[in-house]
Amino acid sequence: MNYQDILEASKYIKEQISISPKIGIILGSGLGDLARAASESKIIKYKDVPHFPISTVKGHAGQFVFGKLDGAEVVMMEGRFHYYEGNRMEDLSLPIYVMKTLGIEKIIVTNAAGGVNTKFKPGDLMIIRDHINFTGNNPLIGKNIDEMGERFPDMSNAYDKKLIEIVKKVANDFEIDVVEGTYFMMTGPSYETPAEIRMIRILGGDAVGMSTVPEVIAANHCKIKVIGISCITNMAAGILDEPLNHKEVIETSNKVKDKFSKLVRGIISEI
Ligand code: HPA
Repeated sequence: MNYQDILEASKYIKEQISISPKIGIILGSGLGDLARAASESKIIKYKDVPHFPISTVKGHAGQFVFGKLDGAEVVMMEGRFHYYEGNRMEDLSLPIYVMKTLGIEKIIVTNAAGGVNTKFKPGDLMIIRDHINFTGNNPLIGKNIDEMGERFPDMSNAYDKKLIEIVKKVANDFEIDVVEGTYFMMTGPSYETPAEIRMIRILGGDAVGMSTVPEVIAANHCKIKVIGISCITNMAAGILDEPLNHKEVIETSNKVKDKFSKLVRGIISEI
């Protein structure tokens, strides 16, 4: 991917939309409902956007939804690209750079994650305070795209501290319980072993998942501010005496989607 690819993708989208949102939202597994709530919406399928990778996971639609939510103009990514699908990690930054060139200043990144912290329970919403990239890869490896950002971007405020305070205030106002913690990225697609989960806990992870980190690195690279929220869909491997499966992940995210949508809409109105 190079700067020209970003501009071409961005141009294709710009020609079809009549709004100029400043907020982007990446919807994780089972959280797609929010896309339906937008008014005056315009859908752009990823498969039609020049240079975009392909998205293959069930429960991830694969499209941008531009529209208005509670008066604010937003772009939502209904479905995202994953590293485990075989995409190159650098390709996962393309949608973020495209949003940057469309004028996005802040993104709300959401995901489904396994609870590593034993105080958590399925259905909890976790504000991501920080992350650990355990993939051994980085979306910025390769020639730096100088137009997007510097070679060695700072990651010390990767999940913007001021925005975290706003999320906590909104959660408090709406009486939505939230927990906070560090998101730990594994490549997947196999779930972790119990031994890996013990390692992740020792290393400081509170929740584990297979997404988000590449997008957050790209967003920090191009200076988009980030809010991250994980839906804890299951306890991570070995904590309970039961196997993990994708069905459980989808079921839990379906159960909490109203609470989750309320929180995200509250955040949109405040930022
Ligand atoms: N592990 C990794 N990714 C996940 C999990 C998990 O337990 N739950 C949802 N996404």
